[in-house]
Amino acid sequence: MKKITAIIGSPRKQNTLRLVETIEQAICKKEKVEFSYFHLADMRIEPCRGCLLCITKGFEHCPIDDDVKSINEAFTSSDGIILASPVYVMHITSQMKTLIDRLCYLCHRPALCHSQAMAVSTTGAIGLKKALSYLKGVLEMWGCRSTVSAGLATPPENDVQSAFSKAESGKIEAAAGKFLRNLDKGDRKPVKLTSLIQFKMLRMIFTSDKTREIMPADHDFYRKLIGKRYFTYARISIFKRFVAWIVQTVAKPFL
Ligand SMILES: Cc1cc2nc3c(=O)[nH]c(=O)nc-3n(C[C@H](O)[C@H](O)[C@H](O)COP(=O)(O)O)c2cc1C
Repeated sequence: MKKITAIIGSPRKQNTLRLVETIEQAICKKEKVEFSYFHLADMRIEPCRGCLLCITKGFEHCPIDDDVKSINEAFTSSDGIILASPVYVMHITSQMKTLIDRLCYLCHRPALCHSQAMAVSTTGAIGLKKALSYLKGVLEMWGCRSTVSAGLATPPENDVQSAFSKAESGKIEAAAGKFLRNLDKGDRKPVKLTSLIQFKMLRMIFTSDKTREIMPADHDFYRKLIGKRYFTYARISIFKRFVAWIVQTVAKPFL
């Protein structure tokens, strides 16, 4: 059975949780999938101290021993990841941002290339697009093979039920269906051109002699990928490989 890890970044168990549960129901109507929920507000997650040890030496060197480790483990063993946050003053919540900062090593060494992802957000009225676009960008940096977005406005003057009205739930069901199709495709889902370029650029930067001393974890990680097409098995068209090769060739003298 496929496994999905859903991170709820709201301090309350209301609109955002309800939206993710609606997505779960829409998915489970079609296929049995195991959902695990992590409520950040109920967990012990300290802010990043900025030591950079997760990046330079490895995630296991993070000096903070809290619940981020269990989320990191759940991510690496999941087929799908959901990051869900309400809009708080035009952005995601501080709880969600704290988690993202603590997992910043994933932006250097994307370990979630096997996963399909979903960005979820709710808002009173504004800021949805910005929050979803930020979450999507993070999931892409983490290497997720695909990212679907689902958002819902829950204006305070209306009851929440009307926000989950027929028209809206149609959109939510469509996004859930797309996420499920991506999960079923797994690593047969083609890699995006931007992800391939990200791979080539990071490999070029971190295999250079300059980075051996200052970024040993990145250096070791990317050295093992020399000669490989991508982080993991991936279908990549000749066109994408050609464009990525041109970008790499043009960028090389500047790095
Ligand atoms: C501190 C705070 C800041 C908020 N900022 C915004 C905002 O910038 N724009 C907006 O439209 N709604 C804003 N809202 C409303 C929430 O985004 C909205 O009610 C959301 O659905 C709450 O989700 P939840 O029930 O999962 O916590 C804010 C709410 C709070 C508590």
